[in-house]
This record gives sequence, C-alpha cells and structure tokens, in this order.
Amino acid sequence: EKGGYDYFMLKEIAEQPKAVADTLLGRIDANGVLALDEVRIPSEVLREVHKIVIVACGTAYHAGMIAKYAIEHWTRIPCETELASEFRYRDPIMDRRTLVIAISQSGETMDTLMALRHAREQGAKVLAICNTNGSTIPRESDAVLYTHAGPEVAVASTKAFLTQLVACYLVALYLGQVRGTKWGDEIHAVVKELAAIGTQVEQVLATMEPVRELARGLADKNTVLFLGRHVGYPVALEGALKLKELAYMHAEGFAAGELKHGPIALIEEDLPVVVIVPSPRGRSVLHDKIVSNIQEIRARGARTIVIAEEGDEAVVPYADHLVRIPRTPTLLQPLVSAVPLQVFACELATARGNEVDQPRNLAKSVTVE
Ligand code: F6R
Repeated sequence: EKGGYDYFMLKEIAEQPKAVADTLLGRIDANGVLALDEVRIPSEVLREVHKIVIVACGTAYHAGMIAKYAIEHWTRIPCETELASEFRYRDPIMDRRTLVIAISQSGETMDTLMALRHAREQGAKVLAICNTNGSTIPRESDAVLYTHAGPEVAVASTKAFLTQLVACYLVALYLGQVRGTKWGDEIHAVVKELAAIGTQVEQVLATMEPVRELARGLADKNTVLFLGRHVGYPVALEGALKLKELAYMHAEGFAAGELKHGPIALIEEDLPVVVIVPSPRGRSVLHDKIVSNIQEIRARGARTIVIAEEGDEAVVPYADHLVRIPRTPTLLQPLVSAVPLQVFACELATARGNEVDQPRNLAKSVTVE
C-alpha cells in the first residue's frame, strides 16, 4: 500500500535512498572491489568487448544516455545509446565482440525486447539491467544485473531510474576493473563515493519543501524548459519527460550548448527555465560555460531555476531560485540532480489536479511496439 503517502509516486520517491543502497548491496566488497559474479559473462569475453550499445525506452533511455559518459570515461570502450524503437530499423553494426545492454524496469517493454532479439541474432552478447525478476527481457538475455528498487507502481518511473543509474555505474566500473583500464585511484575513489550516495539522496529529499512551493507557484504556466550539459543533459531530458507525463505541460530539455543554435528564440519574459549545473570542481570549463548560458537566458527575461552543487557561488547572482545538491563526482551527479526534478513534476501535477499515479494515456508496461 501507499504507506501513509497520498500517491505511490511520493512513496517511491521517498524510497530512493533504500533502493539505491539495496542495489549496491553485496556488489562492492570491503576493499572497494566490485563483485559482480552474478553477471555470468566470463572475464575473457568482457576483455574482448570492443563496442557497447545501450538500448532502452523513455526514462530507462535517459539512464542509458548517462551510462555512455561513464562507460566511455572509465573503460575507453566506444559506447552508443539508442532508443530501442529506432535501433533495429537502421541495420546497426554488431558482432560477437559487441556488448548490448538492455535497460528496462518492467522487463516487458516490447521495443526493448525486439532490439535485444535483433542484437542476439547478429551474435552480440546481451546484458539486461532489469527490476523485475524472471521477466521476459532478462530471460532472453545472456546475463542480467537486477536493480533492487522493489515494485514500482506509479506509472512515472523514479526509484527504478536511480537504481538503473547505479547498475550502469556498477557495470562501467566492473568493466574497468576486469580490463584494467583506469583501474587506480580514480575508480577506487568513485566506488567509495557511490557506496555513500544513498545518504546524499536522503539529504536532497530532506530539503525539497522550497521546490514544492516553487512548483505550486508555476501551476498556471504553459511551458518549462530544462538545460544541462554533459551528464546534466540527459537529466534535463528526464526532467522534461516527467513534467510532460505528469503535469501535461509542454516541457523540453536541451543541451545548453545548443541554445544559441535555435532554442534561445523561445526565451521570453518569465519563462521558467531549469538549469542543471555541473560541478565547478570537475570539468570546470563546462561549469563556466553553463554559468554564461544562465546569464544569457536571464538577460532575455527567463525565470531561472538553478540546480547547483553546495558551495558553487558563481551561480548565485543569476539564480531566481536556487536548489542545492550535495557534492558528488561529476559522473555521479545525476543520482542527486534528478531527485528535485521528480519532486517538482509530482507537485506540479498535484497542483494542476492531475492523477499522479495514473497519468492519462499511459500504461506502466508498454508491451506493444
Ligand atoms: C517514464 C516512464 C517510461 C518508461 C519506459 C520504459 O516515467 O516510466 O518512459 O521508462 O516506458 O519502461 P521499462 O523501463 O519498463 O522498459
């Protein structure tokens, strides 16, 4: 049941620290070494992989987009992420040394299933990342890494998304470990931070009241835009998707660097724009670029809602609303930056009188193509 919450979605948002911790449980040993024996693809095979293709739909696709950054950075294996519904229709190039990762909460999404069948026909190995034991996608894959989010009832995916990210990071780090790429200080440090991330998600959840209040104040708006760069870009897409499906508002996510190539024409007085700001400590060039993007849109009248790391003072002068998130390594930031966007969409949907757990026209599990 809903455990005292008005909606399953609220309950599932609140369950995220536990879902994240459960997905990590037993997979990192006391020395910070990854133990993913359950992925029964032999190390020799993983060492031979020369290309990774991630296929998924919707929110799971956004997790896959983020995974691409982590996989390429930590393993140096070329990785592409593709919408499952597009994948097999373009005659994709695959062989026995291609690893396909299929991400699905339900394990029953037809588009994803058809993509993985196509991949196996071409001789690729398929690893499923899935939340539902014994569902079709893991049954038809060579291996599976289960997310332990527990049952997700609300149609809009929240805790499954965070655990999909955790599983992707685990796979990326594991590949790095098996292949010996960058297996040194950086990966060890990240494993440590990943192990502590549940606490940070909890911190974010404890500070969401201003975000709810902000959302209620925007209930009569027609459009909200989302901007991000690097791993913040898929987070922007996910924030927009949540708002579309729950609040039935026009919402779009953009890579902030694309603004001047078109979308900046959309900016008008008082248009809410949510900006996900990368850490000033990691890829600081990106941070500085996004700060100038915020300046540019604000100069054109946008109402800026800025999601930035604690201690990032550079954004303060340009933020109409500032949402703080804890410091994390750059690649892990989506685990904390996605949470305020879930809360934002849920509260806006409620304020607009929508059915939060059962948005119109949507089904939890999409078993048709
Ligand atoms: C969005 C949402 C959908 C699913 C998508 C894939 O909140 O829930 O976009 O993420 O339909 O579903 P699964 O992960 O079950 O394959």
